[in-house]
Amino acid sequence: MKVLVIGGCGYIGSHLVSRLLTNGHNVLIIDDLSSGYADSALGGEIQVGDFGDRKLLDLVFTKNNLDGVVHFASLIQVSESVVDPAKYYYTNVSKTLTLLQAMKDHNVGPLIFSSTAAVFGEPVDIPITEVHPTSPLNPYGASKLMVEQMLRDFDLAYGFRSVSLRYFNAAGADPEARIGERHEPETHLIPIALQAAMGKRPALKVFGRDYDTCDGTCVRDYIHVDDLACAHLLALEYLNKGGQTTAFNLGNGEGFSVQQVLETIEKVTGLQVPTIDAPRRDGDPARLVADASAARKYLGWRPNYSELETIIQHAWAWEQKRSGPT
Ligand code: UFG
Repeated sequence: MKVLVIGGCGYIGSHLVSRLLTNGHNVLIIDDLSSGYADSALGGEIQVGDFGDRKLLDLVFTKNNLDGVVHFASLIQVSESVVDPAKYYYTNVSKTLTLLQAMKDHNVGPLIFSSTAAVFGEPVDIPITEVHPTSPLNPYGASKLMVEQMLRDFDLAYGFRSVSLRYFNAAGADPEARIGERHEPETHLIPIALQAAMGKRPALKVFGRDYDTCDGTCVRDYIHVDDLACAHLLALEYLNKGGQTTAFNLGNGEGFSVQQVLETIEKVTGLQVPTIDAPRRDGDPARLVADASAARKYLGWRPNYSELETIIQHAWAWEQKRSGPT
């Protein structure tokens, strides 16, 4: 296949690029490098530019015979989306509409879209299936849900086929530690805790110890970034074999509290994670755990690295490598 990966220089996108190349596919990337890094793409051709630029899309779609598009590029910080929703609706919704229109006009498809567990909001049932009500708590989750709605409507009206993949907590790194997580600023639990353990940060703030969970800290479903990447490839194959437009949840189906993650980090690294207790962070549901049985059934998806310890080992190897010799 020849696959266009939009946002292929970012955390999850770069792992898909690696997986596509390993499986012998051709890769073209559009990335404006606003949060990605050119050297995160382990191959393929990079077109540096804005995925909301219609002229660029016309050029790319005219010049290339594509078998599919995977769209990762978006803004992802929940708290920023609350203070600047316009920025989120513009980038995540408006620019994505431009992309969908261009794909439709050039008869390019199918599309795999990076969605999120944030579309559900505060869960009413755990584990969360695809039919769980969607009620996002913030503009970030709302922006992703709006695109899912557009995709359903594009299918009904134009026969435009897509799969939305709702990630729970992406974590870990390439098992060979060539690429991994590098957000700027970093807001995610595992990289921040690893950096605190290494002494690169003073301490990890634990956002709330008064939730109604096993130990009072929030529970999340951590999924290895390479398992996420594999799901994208399977979703493309599913659509190319005639699969219907739909959304799948992607997680391991097992929840770990912040405290349990910190204990696993201490076990893996042999280091202590300095922590400070802090108030709850706005918009954090107490528990988010996926029911990913539909992805298993319809995509044949099987995670290779479902153990939290393995996920953290890979994140740790990457974190040490990017810090250089100590
Ligand atoms: N946490 C801390 N301290 C930190 C960072 C995080 O205690 O410094 C806690 C959070 O409060 C939360 C847990 O660790 O309880 C995980 O937080 P992350 O920021 O790593 O991940 P989130 O669950 O907030 O968010 C992730 C994605 C979002 C997505 C969401 C949906 O980053 O894009 O999952 O499940 F919307």
